[in-house]
Amino acid sequence: MKPEKKRKTEIAAIEQFLNEHIEFSEEDARALETALKILNLGEAGLSVIDGGRYDLYIPGGYRVQCDAFHSLSSPVKTSINAVVELAKTCIWNFLRKLKYEIATWIIDECAILYSHNGGKKQAPHIDVASGAYQFFVNLCWNETESTYVFDGVSPTIAALEKKFDMNNLRHSSVIANYAPLLLPKDELYGNMVPLCKDTWNRGGIIGFPGGTVHSGPSYSGYRCVLFIIARPQKLDIQPDVQYTSWTLLEELARDTILFDDNSREKIYSRFLTTCVDWADYEPWKRWSSSKPKLAKSIEKYVKASQKAAKFLVQDKTFSTAVADVSR
Ligand SMILES: [Fe+2]
Repeated sequence: MKPEKKRKTEIAAIEQFLNEHIEFSEEDARALETALKILNLGEAGLSVIDGGRYDLYIPGGYRVQCDAFHSLSSPVKTSINAVVELAKTCIWNFLRKLKYEIATWIIDECAILYSHNGGKKQAPHIDVASGAYQFFVNLCWNETESTYVFDGVSPTIAALEKKFDMNNLRHSSVIANYAPLLLPKDELYGNMVPLCKDTWNRGGIIGFPGGTVHSGPSYSGYRCVLFIIARPQKLDIQPDVQYTSWTLLEELARDTILFDDNSREKIYSRFLTTCVDWADYEPWKRWSSSKPKLAKSIEKYVKASQKAAKFLVQDKTFSTAVADVSR
């Protein structure tokens, strides 16, 4: 089965098996909303992620420091732990139904993603490797919009090689796993659909295979979801790695083993135009602390390009010339 078809079949399988509800009372959900308000960012185990959400680590996964979680009151921690256990049971059942050798699987990465004052639609991204699964439980006291997933056609490696004018892209393992992120913004953005066709009620569990391009929706007010990863033990995951169209290209442009200088230059120039296309997501911020110089120069490039484009639209001489040519 082609990878894309396999992914859709797997998503359909999850919809069928996991369209269930985990017991989480409205009272507990409201208590969680209040409890999360008093957490502060300085504490270990609480960070800000894409789209203005907070990421609160739950003990038991990769992240060993979970001070923020431990600072919650006992009843709140108990209710979260209970939801996590119920979700895990659900996920084990799902894996059994798909005939996985569950003794070789592990469910170890859990976090609560939330914010009280709305959130921006996330950039389409991949943050869990193929071979694993990622699941979400709605922890709001009411319904909320589900995560969006990419429902379009993935470009083939041959098509990408043609587009990039490079015939050695096929040797990159990154390209094979993240190909849809190299689609133009319109094609990627235009093919993101909500995973849950109906409403996603409190306690509802949804999920999809790792390697799926997805993005959290925009929303106003409060939204809170539980995030869980299930994976084969031998498959290592890097919980803080997230690929977007621009971070993928930046990584490729740095690959001196696979690409010669000429190829890397081509990739870098595509990286820059990609940053301009996704300017509303301020791609440079990804490197603000790790590579401040790179961040600054990308920001400059993007803003200069936007200014130039605006100038061309406003410049009557230019628009008259274009009209003359197209006549
Ligand atoms: Fe994600």
